[in-house]
Amino acid sequence: AFAVAADANHSVATEIASLIRQRQADGRQCVLGLATGSTPLGVYAELIGMHRDEGLSFANVVTFNLDEYFPMRPDAPQSYHRFMNENLVDHIDIDPANVHIPYGLLSTGAVDEFCHNYEQLIDDSGGIDLQLLGIGRTGHIGFNEPGSDRSSLTRLVQLNSVTRVDAASDFAGVDNVPQWAITMGVQTILDSRRIRLLAFGKHKAPIVARAAAGKQSDSVPATFLQNHVDVRYLLDSDAASELP
Ligand code: F6R
Repeated sequence: AFAVAADANHSVATEIASLIRQRQADGRQCVLGLATGSTPLGVYAELIGMHRDEGLSFANVVTFNLDEYFPMRPDAPQSYHRFMNENLVDHIDIDPANVHIPYGLLSTGAVDEFCHNYEQLIDDSGGIDLQLLGIGRTGHIGFNEPGSDRSSLTRLVQLNSVTRVDAASDFAGVDNVPQWAITMGVQTILDSRRIRLLAFGKHKAPIVARAAAGKQSDSVPATFLQNHVDVRYLLDSDAASELP
């Protein structure tokens, strides 16, 4: 019943491309919510290929990334700014002014205003048409770790220790992983018109089962997606293997 990863990537990339083209035909912008990490890499590779081979243009696309470590220099190897440039932005014709990613170098006093403005920018753009998500082993979406409220908005959060262990290899040791991140909230994500959650691999099977079929609770923030009017889980057979 569940696809191999390549099919899931192709299916989401094709959906995104047709949304972009529809909006182009209507003379409107297309607003995408984007994720980092290993999971969306295949979708980004497909989109880059469509730009190169089929002339898919991103000139009318506006993007909002879910999150960024805090503190984090935008040019640091582990930054999500750098990740997006290397894995998507540098390879397509999007206007750099249309790419929004939480900024990891704010003074502590400036964080609240930044987060408020991020929400405002999303609203001003007309809201997110399609939000791409991965899922962490803690059940986080974005960096909304266990304990995150359903009504949470963009804010500074403390990373879960499991999440920091999972990031340790990128930082040459868990002690170097930032303690904090700025993330869109659960409510910010739920306000998207479409949500596409991707999960690949056996290590995601237990949390995918809890997220998709468990009782809704802030102990697994991804369970809050269950009531969304247009959510799809795109899983390979390993990630789907513990679904009831
Ligand atoms: C990334 C993000 C996270 C990741 C999740 C899975 O922007 O918000 O929620 O989607 O940690 O990470 P990977 O894909 O590396 O397994």
